[in-house]
Amino acid sequence: MRINPIGNAQFVADIEDVDLQAISSGDFEQIYDAWLQFGVIRIRNQSLDDNALQQFSARFGPLEEMPLGRMSEQDRAKITNIYVTVLSNIRINGKAIGGLGNAEASWHSDMTYVDTPPPASVLLGIEIPPVGGDTYFADQAAAYAALPESLRQRISDLSIKHDAAHTSIGSLRPGYEPFDDPRDAPGSIHPIIRTHEETGKQALYLGRREWAYIPGLSLSDSEALLDELWSYAALAQNVWQQTWQPNDLIVWDNRRVLHRRDDFDNNTRRLMKRCQVLARATDG
Ligand code: SIN
Repeated sequence: MRINPIGNAQFVADIEDVDLQAISSGDFEQIYDAWLQFGVIRIRNQSLDDNALQQFSARFGPLEEMPLGRMSEQDRAKITNIYVTVLSNIRINGKAIGGLGNAEASWHSDMTYVDTPPPASVLLGIEIPPVGGDTYFADQAAAYAALPESLRQRISDLSIKHDAAHTSIGSLRPGYEPFDDPRDAPGSIHPIIRTHEETGKQALYLGRREWAYIPGLSLSDSEALLDELWSYAALAQNVWQQTWQPNDLIVWDNRRVLHRRDDFDNNTRRLMKRCQVLARATDG
């Protein structure tokens, strides 16, 4: 197994010469350490069915069940693996087989609107459109390092309320009422500066821009400060672009990076499978 840093930004590594269905615990420890060190790891040529994807992902920690929302009993019965979420624009008999369709997804880290968001997301590319659908990652430790000292001081005691009501493509999740003031958004509150539990590194923890609010500030001050912070979040030198090949698998650390994805032509097909990893239990 070889671990090769890639991209200018140095927060992404390719892990080569490995078959994820046949790794020892020693191999996995190296993969885990690389994930912690870099924030994003890519492992190409992994043809995994749902169970194999689940098994590899579960080595990072317990898995989150896929969100069912208001799915009918009939559709629930069709789910073959509750830990594997389908992201796709493919429709069968007029029905979408997965989430997000072909739309652009804006910068975010996953599920920051809950109190304990998943540290790791594991995404496998299965069918890839010829053009578009690239996924981008932005290093938030580097974003934090780029902040002027005065701005760091200003946010040192501030938090953000992360909106739970909208998806990363801007649609309202089932069961939520629309609102037009970010102060009314339901969601969890997290400090803007996040200290990584395992590496001790500090990073910006912005979640997503849309419907965010900084408690304690007026709405206009909150909007202005969020805009200022977001101007550092995805500086070109801190962004890496993934152009997918079938059987690419990427694991990213939501505590360290943001991601977004391009839209693509809805006449082409994109099929991805994702597992979300819950935080490992800690002693005491
Ligand atoms: C996501 O935003 O989690 C989806 C990323 C992708 O489909 O590439």
